Amino acid sequence: MIKQILILSLAAFCLNTAAEINYQVIPMPQQIDINKDGKYMVLSKGMTVGYPSGNLQMKRNAEFAAEYLGLNVIEEGKKKADVNLMTGLKSSNPDAYVITIGQKGIMIQGASESGVFYGIQTLRKSIMNETGEIRLPYAVVSGEPRFTYRGTELDCARHFFPVSFIKKFIDILALHGINRFHWHLTDDQGWRFEVKALPELAEKASVRPCTIIGKNVGLSNPDNAIYDDTPETGYYTQEEMRDIVAYAAERYITIIPEIDLPGHMIAALSVYPELGCTGGPYKVWGVWGVADDVLCAGNPKTLEFLKTVYGELCDVFPSKLIHIGGDESPRVRWKSCPKCQAKMKELNLSNEAQLQTYINKEMEAFLATKGRQIIGWDETLEGGLSENAAVMSWRGYDGGKAAAKLHHQVVMTPTNNCYFDYYQLKNRDAQPLGIGGYLPLSKVYSMEPVPSDLTKEEAKYIMGAQCNLWTEYMLSPDHVEYMLLPRLAAMSEVQWLKPEEKNYEQFLERLATFKQSYQRLGYKFCTSHE
Ligand code: ACM
Ligand code: ZN
Repeated sequence: MIKQILILSLAAFCLNTAAEINYQVIPMPQQIDINKDGKYMVLSKGMTVGYPSGNLQMKRNAEFAAEYLGLNVIEEGKKKADVNLMTGLKSSNPDAYVITIGQKGIMIQGASESGVFYGIQTLRKSIMNETGEIRLPYAVVSGEPRFTYRGTELDCARHFFPVSFIKKFIDILALHGINRFHWHLTDDQGWRFEVKALPELAEKASVRPCTIIGKNVGLSNPDNAIYDDTPETGYYTQEEMRDIVAYAAERYITIIPEIDLPGHMIAALSVYPELGCTGGPYKVWGVWGVADDVLCAGNPKTLEFLKTVYGELCDVFPSKLIHIGGDESPRVRWKSCPKCQAKMKELNLSNEAQLQTYINKEMEAFLATKGRQIIGWDETLEGGLSENAAVMSWRGYDGGKAAAKLHHQVVMTPTNNCYFDYYQLKNRDAQPLGIGGYLPLSKVYSMEPVPSDLTKEEAKYIMGAQCNLWTEYMLSPDHVEYMLLPRLAAMSEVQWLKPEEKNYEQFLERLATFKQSYQRLGYKFCTSHE
């Protein structure tokens, strides 16, 4: 009996002391003004959410709000709703939002539809861990992201992940206010993008018969490796990718597809060996690292092939930015290839780096006819950037800095702050396999994407930041989630907050709550942090 009373009073104590909703989520809103009079609104089932009639994006926003907050959707104009969604917020930042909670209910206003979506996400995160009655203190809460490009990359070439996981991944990005999903679709170890005119790519180049066991650090010859006998297969049909593009767009996420050229192409060479300088034969690579075999820049068939591939890529992905890769493409084959050397002579080029630029320029011109713009890894600077190329700076900040000084757009994704395939804890035995390195949560949070020695004018070319998930050693969706979370939470604040708005200690307090949300949503994450 006494035990029962104790349990009951303990339960009552817990209910009474449930944390007040304070709207302090991740990313942190810039302004949270809670009414001092203690008044609050009780959010209850049966309440309604309304949106401006005839706006399909706002209709979808209303459906999200209803799903997250447990409400019913009504169209604006028919009946005054309890939660009203609207655009028209005066701000030069289209992603800005203001949430007002007061006597008249809740209003979520965005500078555009995306702003409304972010407001809904903030409200959702504010209440996600509530179990009893949801009391929303009267308040005004507003937020806006610092950067226009807030990216996350996922490599689906080294390991293939099913459509269901890609959608879950997109949901995770949306929860964190990310608006660009950089989708790495092809590499030496597998081709995942269906090209209807070149069916061998999906049928054969997507199949890696076996993979090296363990790591191939210091391996000079792949023939000496020990392999498993488990094929890694899979590709995305165009129908599936279109569906994913639409799924992401509803969540205000643009998918930037990457077909990596002229290196990281062995999977394609395995079915079209004539596109390599030596003519092959080539096998879909079962080891990791950088291959000497790349596309032959002197063979006119190479550009024909690329235009077919990128033509279909543009049919599927509406993104203005199209990623052409450009990283880790050794030029040794080009140096001894008669076709490549003849091409250099014809174009009067003085080195092989310029030969890579020649391909980039061809691709830039081709993609421009479709209204697109190329973005490439920072190696694309080496032979001179093509006129409108954007640069993704991964080997530190210097490439991005150089590009910004040349007035080219930049995304900062330096290994030291952004490579989520690195370990997040010092003790490697306490976590799943990483590629190496050490990137703790605190180091992600400390990232400053804009180098201090850029002028104000140059700094404008830094579009934002991106974290990358290379999946050589991530074999399952669970492993990807573990590497992503909670580091994505830190990246989210890098992308949303100005340096003076960041506060790591306070972030950690909010993260403790956010981790409970991860748990509720069934996401895997690293529970400790350094
Ligand atoms: C890269 O990590 N090779 C871009
Ligand atoms: Zn060649």
